[in-house]
Amino acid sequence: MKNFTYYNPVKVAFGSDALKKMGELLPQDGTIMMTMGKGSIRKNGVYDKVKKALAGREVVEFEGIEPNPEYENCMNAVKLAKEKNVSFLLSVGGGSVLDATKFIAAALHFEGADPWDICEKGAPVTGATPIGCVLTLPATGSEVNGNSVISRRGKGQKLAFSSPLVMTQFSILDPATTLSLDARQTANGIVDAFVHVMEQYLTYDVNTPLQDRQAEAILSTLVELSPKVRATPNDVAVRGNVMWCASNALSNLINCGTVQDWSTHIIGHEITALHGLDHAQTLAIVLPAIMQHQRKQKGGKIVQYAKRVWAIDGADDDEIIDQCIAKTKAFFEETGCPTSLSAYNLTPDDCMKIPGILAGRGMIIGERADIGEKEVEAILRLCA
Ligand code: NZQ
Ligand code: ZN
Repeated sequence: MKNFTYYNPVKVAFGSDALKKMGELLPQDGTIMMTMGKGSIRKNGVYDKVKKALAGREVVEFEGIEPNPEYENCMNAVKLAKEKNVSFLLSVGGGSVLDATKFIAAALHFEGADPWDICEKGAPVTGATPIGCVLTLPATGSEVNGNSVISRRGKGQKLAFSSPLVMTQFSILDPATTLSLDARQTANGIVDAFVHVMEQYLTYDVNTPLQDRQAEAILSTLVELSPKVRATPNDVAVRGNVMWCASNALSNLINCGTVQDWSTHIIGHEITALHGLDHAQTLAIVLPAIMQHQRKQKGGKIVQYAKRVWAIDGADDDEIIDQCIAKTKAFFEETGCPTSLSAYNLTPDDCMKIPGILAGRGMIIGERADIGEKEVEAILRLCA
């Protein structure tokens, strides 16, 4: 096991009474800025419930954060927050609203000329306005981690930053808020959480048997829950289990001391930046292609995953790996995320800017730093 420091100060309130706890979780004084998406919380009643819980507080609203949150829009929120002297940010919505809120929190304290440097140049986050969150879409794990992914469409960029300073002070997880998710967003959440686990697990063995089994437990639970949530989308208990899986998938616990490989996300973010596919839709396409391309390098872990999550057995590792990739693809497809570019009327040729973009950033990816420009191209060819 590699050396690690584990730190997760987020207070999670889970369950049907979680929203009622907000009053005691929020600071008593100051001005709260409520950040929101494009209307789902007004339709499903979450807005009204949150407003009720905020009664008597000084509140400013910032509405209209888009999926794959946009830098320019975040900067509008920064301007408003400065004008209104905001001292606390309350994100109400999915991962995009929360990621935007994290960027806003960091930008409010940024001392350089342009806070975009945090994403583009790795400028350090030196301070952040405190954040709370009411999560309505289980997928990203943003509610329990310090990550944020922001897009700048004018530059064709979608870039991540990470800092413990933007972890929420509290995250409210009431599964009932997720009952209004449609089939597409529900599927996206399951696939995103699944791939988060895979990126922290499917590398090579460094003697982390507990972390491996924690990862496999989340994968197996998602495999079990996916057909259940499709069959009974109004079952709040099933929704709650999906929600807790998604948080656990990216809370920095299962990756303690492990070797990680975020290649699927790195390539997937570029597909979103170029063609606008949903985040999870890109992951369902790229992960099986990476498993195929890296089948030798990742072979040991793929076989372990095949045996423990899919109960695939046999004498021949190559055959096990073939079956395992097929099972993984079938799982994504059944869940509701197609596994080929062609499903979106795209071809690998439509993505051929990506190898050069990543190379231009000096990115050589993969757990052994063996996926460069040529390999990214080959992986994208397998995504046809
Ligand atoms: O904007 P509104 O009207 O709220 O609608 C949203 C949006 O259209 C809707 N939605 C959210 N909760 C709902 C709901 N609709 C009905 N009922 C509800 N309860 O769902 C749509 C998608 O929302 P979004 O927040 O974009 O989805 P998600 O949570 O999947 O977040 C995706 C973003 O997170 C980034 C992705 O790249 C993408 O930008 N990621 C963030 C990570 C992190 N911070 O750790 C890690 C991930 O790998 C990921 O990269
Ligand atoms: Zn993701």
